[in-house]
Amino acid sequence: MGFRFDVVGVGALNLDSIAPVSPAAKALLRGSVAWGAEGRVGAATVDAAMRTVQGAAVRVAVGGSAYNTINALAHIDAGLRLGYVGVAGRLPVPGTPLAGRLRALGVDTGMLRDEPRELSGVCLSLVEDGERTLLVHPGANDRMAAHLEVEFEAVVEYLSAARIVHVTSFLDQLTPVVLADVLAAVRERSPETVLSFDPGHVWAASGSAPVTALATLADHVLLNERELQALGTTGDDTWAADRILRVGRPGRFVHVKRPAGVTTFTRSGPLLRARFHPQHPVPVERVVDATGAGDVYAAGLVAALAGGAGLHDGVRLGMAMTRHKLVHLADAGHPGLPAVFRAWQDGATPDPS
Ligand SMILES: Nc1ncnc2c1ncn2[C@@H]1O[C@H](COP(=O)(O)OP(=O)(O)O)[C@@H](O)[C@H]1O
Ligand SMILES: [Mg+2]
Repeated sequence: MGFRFDVVGVGALNLDSIAPVSPAAKALLRGSVAWGAEGRVGAATVDAAMRTVQGAAVRVAVGGSAYNTINALAHIDAGLRLGYVGVAGRLPVPGTPLAGRLRALGVDTGMLRDEPRELSGVCLSLVEDGERTLLVHPGANDRMAAHLEVEFEAVVEYLSAARIVHVTSFLDQLTPVVLADVLAAVRERSPETVLSFDPGHVWAASGSAPVTALATLADHVLLNERELQALGTTGDDTWAADRILRVGRPGRFVHVKRPAGVTTFTRSGPLLRARFHPQHPVPVERVVDATGAGDVYAAGLVAALAGGAGLHDGVRLGMAMTRHKLVHLADAGHPGLPAVFRAWQDGATPDPS
């Protein structure tokens, strides 16, 4: 009780952009990228590439999985007290810097490290004839492990003051190691703090020990079908979920997200219990932008849990907000989230568990 924050997000911060390949971009990148693949590029390359496609970009949005979740939470008008732990570099587009954007959303930035001289994370998707080339630049996010090490005690205290901590991935090898230590210390200091974890595909498929440690600490592990298979090794859903839930404290949940609904798994003694929460999928032809839809699911889930709702109602709000997000580009539909939230509140039923 007496938490200072309702939800604190922890994750990489990126500029996400999708643009058609321009002749200028092609010339610039000749020899340095493999077309049709995903490649890491340096700051100078990504900065120059952003300049050649600017104006033509069909989507430019600040992102990063946890940022997307916090952004959605800030928009639902539920009076949630929010914070963010990450590293903010310089955005390669005009406009308000990252820290200012978070503060404008009402998000506390006391544990955000500002690196204005370094380029932020950038994820630039260049599209040509349906083929997609992804340029990934981790940028300032690569300083996260150092940030956590230097501020270890302060970050532990900050996160321990949160009702819910929502954790998403970083690209470097060191951050998950330090982050697992940080979150283990948070668990010690504040056992009531609920940990939600959305590893995404790269972490789920990494097979790395610190990612497994993070999944074991988490009270809610949020996965799509591919990620469940990757994180739980092989086998059917039940087998994979059981692998994840066999360890860790009681009352943990694995959420498996599919268009037809979400299946939650939890262990009750030696038994694994599964519950399917169905929904009407959004027809494919109505989906405008699916990028970050899972992050909006996380926002709905944690908003409901922060308000004291039970698991089923949390899943329902997550799915309702996701369906709303899918029919809008980036966060253009977010002004409509308060109405989605209110409709959910009107239909929310107390959870018996
Ligand atoms: N047509 C659809 N109707 C309803 N929900 C959908 C549809 N397509 C995808 N979803 C939901 O969108 C979310 C995508 O999550 P995820 O795979 O983690 O994507 P991302 O990581 O890009 O945000 C899941 O919650 C999934 O159930
Ligand atoms: Mg996802």
